[in-house]
Amino acid sequence: MVRTSPPAYSARAGEPMVGDARSSRSAESSGHIGRMRTVDRHTKEGILRAGIAAPSADNSQPWCFAWQGDDLDLRIDASRSGHVSDTRYVLSDLAAGACLENMVIHARSLGYAADLQPFPQPDDELWVARMRWRHDPGPPPVEPLARAIAQRHTDRRFPWSGSIDADAQARLNAQAQLIPGQRLWWPQTPHARKAALDVIRQAETLRFRSPALHAELFSSIRFAVGWHAACEEGLAPTTLAVEPPLRPVFQALRRPAMMSMFNRLGAATVLGWRSAWLPIRLSPGLCLLVIPSTARSDVLAAGRALQRVWLQATLDGLSVQPYAAAGVLGLGFVAVEPALQQSLSRVGPTLRNLCAPGYGLVFLRLGHTRSAPRGRSGRRTLESFGALQ
Ligand SMILES: Cc1cc2nc3c(=O)[nH]c(=O)nc-3n(C[C@H](O)[C@H](O)[C@H](O)COP(=O)(O)O)c2cc1C
Repeated sequence: MVRTSPPAYSARAGEPMVGDARSSRSAESSGHIGRMRTVDRHTKEGILRAGIAAPSADNSQPWCFAWQGDDLDLRIDASRSGHVSDTRYVLSDLAAGACLENMVIHARSLGYAADLQPFPQPDDELWVARMRWRHDPGPPPVEPLARAIAQRHTDRRFPWSGSIDADAQARLNAQAQLIPGQRLWWPQTPHARKAALDVIRQAETLRFRSPALHAELFSSIRFAVGWHAACEEGLAPTTLAVEPPLRPVFQALRRPAMMSMFNRLGAATVLGWRSAWLPIRLSPGLCLLVIPSTARSDVLAAGRALQRVWLQATLDGLSVQPYAAAGVLGLGFVAVEPALQQSLSRVGPTLRNLCAPGYGLVFLRLGHTRSAPRGRSGRRTLESFGALQ
């Protein structure tokens, strides 16, 4: 059983206080330890590998790990977070939630449970969670989602076929709702679907119109690896599903001057249609992850729900592409150039009208593909995320 809130454990006699790494190590080395180490090195490594298989915006992998005995601290990596769209760590918290959920699911399939303490020290904004692991007696519970951790990936191709039937929707809804406060919203009418499509397209267009957002987006694309190779961090061009004839133009748009020149001809609008409107229009499923408040703990929980939904979709043979721009820009934490402020200010209220009560955070495009994508995003080496003790 994974307990999440309220803070699931408190220090007891003989145990280190939260955040006191030194006392933890000295207690263990001196033998005055209240709890035995139960998680061996191999299991710890497996838990971390499951964590880093999680999705992150622009494949930024903004996670740091530190083990202290059986306690695992998950932190946001300051050097890979806090950029223009992440000033309040919304994207990083989502990635941290997804990472955390992967670890919980994987460990659970091995018979380990975690007591989670989200944001253990409010004045340490990068410290997302402490997880205290214990081995549960008895056979490991059946955890079907664990099978999907390595398979899950982002698919940006289209068109997608099939339909998302009521049973599949119910399974995805159930996974989201397993995380308290989280739910999926599905457009129920053509009018609602059109409104959702419009707001997603507007937000995606802004990513190309705003010099700040454009710079952030294109800096994450690793053009240097070419259009066929993978890379271990950031977005490899091959994962973007850009049609071969359009590749030189797309690559040229990484230069701000070029983007601004083409924008005079309406390039941002065209890119908004191509990157969002068209793929979604040609896909059978669209849903939106809705959070109850904009508190960081709810965004972290949204990352957990996002991951559960995505893993379930993977088990159901569905391809998934998230669209986060509308939700993240709509929360109002991202500053864009004054000339674009008016367009930006319409995104949040439109979204809230659609999915009230709550805040729509990440759209998911869903559908069926016949084949696996040619290119998938890589990951950094495990060692680069922190020491494995
Ligand atoms: C919070 C978050 C936001 C994301 N936003 C987008 C998005 O707007 N568009 C998109 O194509 N992919 C988006 N992604 C997918 C990531 O780019 C993807 O997870 C990352 O490149 C790693 O690839 P993988 O999912 O195949 O492992 C997002 C992922 C996360 C976790």
